[in-house]
Amino acid sequence: MGAHSSRLSRRAFLKAASIGAGAAFCGGLAQVARAAKNDVWIRMYASVQDFPILPGNLSQVYRYTAGLRHGPRNTIARIPNSFLGPIFNFRTGQKVQLDFVNNLPEPSVVHFHGLNVPEEMDGHPLYTVAPGQSFTHQFEVINRAGTYWYHPHPDMRTGFQANKGLAGVIIINDDEEDRLELPRGECDAVFVIQDKRYSPMNQIQHSTGSQVGYLGNVIHVNGTPNFRWNCGTRLYRIRLLNGSNSRIYKLAWSDGQPMFVIGTTGGLLAETVEKPYLMLGPGDRIEIIADFRTKQVGEVVKLMSLAFPMGGPGSGFPAQGTEMEIMSCEMSYPRPEKLEIPTTLTKIVPYVRSQAVNADNSRVFATEYMDGMWTINGRVFELTGVVEEEKVWLDDLEVWEFRNDLPADQHQPHPMHLHGAQFQISNRWTNTDEAWYDEIREGYVDEGWHDTVLLFPGERVEFLVKHGPYRGLFLMHCHNLEHEDMGMMRNFLIQ
Ligand code: C2O
Ligand code: CU
Ligand code: CU
Repeated sequence: MGAHSSRLSRRAFLKAASIGAGAAFCGGLAQVARAAKNDVWIRMYASVQDFPILPGNLSQVYRYTAGLRHGPRNTIARIPNSFLGPIFNFRTGQKVQLDFVNNLPEPSVVHFHGLNVPEEMDGHPLYTVAPGQSFTHQFEVINRAGTYWYHPHPDMRTGFQANKGLAGVIIINDDEEDRLELPRGECDAVFVIQDKRYSPMNQIQHSTGSQVGYLGNVIHVNGTPNFRWNCGTRLYRIRLLNGSNSRIYKLAWSDGQPMFVIGTTGGLLAETVEKPYLMLGPGDRIEIIADFRTKQVGEVVKLMSLAFPMGGPGSGFPAQGTEMEIMSCEMSYPRPEKLEIPTTLTKIVPYVRSQAVNADNSRVFATEYMDGMWTINGRVFELTGVVEEEKVWLDDLEVWEFRNDLPADQHQPHPMHLHGAQFQISNRWTNTDEAWYDEIREGYVDEGWHDTVLLFPGERVEFLVKHGPYRGLFLMHCHNLEHEDMGMMRNFLIQ
């Protein structure tokens, strides 16, 4: 170890030794020695805070905060006045170390949603961090440019902790994206959409009573209710994350402009796709271009969630599918715009279905409801449990199929999510010819790369996934966090 790194070690160790009361720091010196090799080194805390969200009383939240120990200045971007965790700006190829310190009164663990990282770094509930303890995540950023996120993943407590405030965005940039003419800087915006419910004393409520999951009545964008955004009369790249526990949005602009979709969960599409509206389930991200070039200063354009039918029984208030206003974009200053809405974007090499090792025999995972629990192929989550049909081989290209065939009295949509890989959707079917389906079907963007896919009742989705490059135990689950916590999660093993 050279003079420089040992000095770094000592200074960092002293800082580590002085972190908040109750946080026992394990292996400080060993961690620092490894950190010296990383491009980015972050220390992140989860703690309980009283935070101003609504007028009047402060709300108790669980909150991620982070400090940069080493790395590019822009790595950590805080969202002003928000209980959300900071935005992490990573670049493909970077080696990241993130020391997570759990100052919560309960176990937790951080999952990097959409990032392809080794099992031990992925936030599997197996690696839960006890109160006062810490865990060092180390991984290389191998994903493409895109919008990813991080959130807790402890067994049966994910819904509670996420709703209480634990969530943050990860933005990855790469060289391919740098070469494109896209809105940048202040014209590249990210909006996290969440619904919550408050007590009369402004405390966040979490009740999971029904099959629908948790539905709140207050829409937040980036942690702020009634979000207003001052923008210019130009083009914007907008990254949308549905960070809600259970609510699905049918997103559309109030001025009738189409959704110009440029990206999905795994980054930019091959070409821009136009949709009248977008169905965005929990955990999912979508990137669009908003066109405000013809607006006048003073005009307001609203991002809405339009009404849609559930296709099954609903409850909660407001019910799933209720029309809600997400945010207002207020044209605050005139700006000339030299950019155009892009048409071609990136190169996506399509997987070839016939090359899958199981091309004649898809791996099927059916969603079911049994005795108050949500299941996948009849099983609920077991911490290390993995059965034969959940074992796959490293580097195999496979055909998988999620099914949502439940009978009408148990119908719920399921936003199904896979850890450990981005996949390509190859087919989507429905067994319904009812009129309600016409009110959602145009809102799917199945092009490009995905880690989350929404299935309405009666739907089946087939996708192609290449397992790797890491062996290990990864998760598949419904990203309706109440369904996940009520069993709808299974391991799969890459062997
Ligand atoms: Cu965003 Cu396993 O989840
Ligand atoms: Cu995930
Ligand atoms: Cu579900």
